[in-house]
Amino acid sequence: MDSGRAGAADDEAPADDEALLARLRGAPVLAGPLPGFDPGEAPEAPGPLFARWLDLALTDGVPEPQIMTLSTAGADGAPAARVLVLRGLDTADCAFRFASDSRSPKGHDLAANPRAALTWYWPTHGRQIRMAGPVTVLGEEATRQDFTGRGKTARAAGFTGVMSAPLTGPEEYEQAGEAAGRLVAAEPGRVPATHTVYQLRAMEAEFWQADPARFHLRLRYDRTGDGWTRGLLWP
Ligand SMILES: Cc1cc2nc3c(=O)[nH]c(=O)nc-3n(C[C@H](O)[C@H](O)[C@H](O)COP(=O)(O)O)c2cc1C
Repeated sequence: MDSGRAGAADDEAPADDEALLARLRGAPVLAGPLPGFDPGEAPEAPGPLFARWLDLALTDGVPEPQIMTLSTAGADGAPAARVLVLRGLDTADCAFRFASDSRSPKGHDLAANPRAALTWYWPTHGRQIRMAGPVTVLGEEATRQDFTGRGKTARAAGFTGVMSAPLTGPEEYEQAGEAAGRLVAAEPGRVPATHTVYQLRAMEAEFWQADPARFHLRLRYDRTGDGWTRGLLWP
């Protein structure tokens, strides 16, 4: 398929590593203009700071600020990461929600080891946010709301195969998609039994702000009994 973009098409030989690296070296990074960040003015808790940064990201049109990386480790300790959509947040308690199929590898990881990390990177602001803490599964009502709030196609996708299981070929996907489409049309309120809304409650949080002069700033928060401590880290 011709994407109309410069660079190798899928059926062309890929560029060699050196050429790719040379282009990478020339690619702009943390170019700015970047927003300022004064850690001395930061709120006592990370949730309100997250809200402040997200608000600005939305205002300034930072691409896809709702996309975040979820990192997990299962019973064997092997790490895995993938990107997901932020589906809900409670900034007063510094808690973040995401949804997935509980039968997926991440679902198995979280069942065996219900702790995870979330990472956001907002390139045009030069900002990274990291949160880590225990993960819980939310109840039926939260799951229903999350699922039924989606469009028809997204809901149909939820009734196809087991996420991340091997697919025999495109036909299997097509047939499952058609069957799922019929099911969603017939039963619009139905929620897949394995659709799951997870909530990560941060115990630690870190805000990283790039500086064009490379005096990057890092502010870390740690949850104490009923509040937070905070301090700067070497970048
Ligand atoms: C932009 C983007 C958003 C995604 N959002 C979700 C999501 O909200 N939930 C989800 O389960 N997978 C989402 N995915 C797919 C995951 O990245 C991943 O491929 C899938 O969840 C299987 O992960 P696992 O095999 O580690 O369990 C998204 C992928 C992309 C590229």
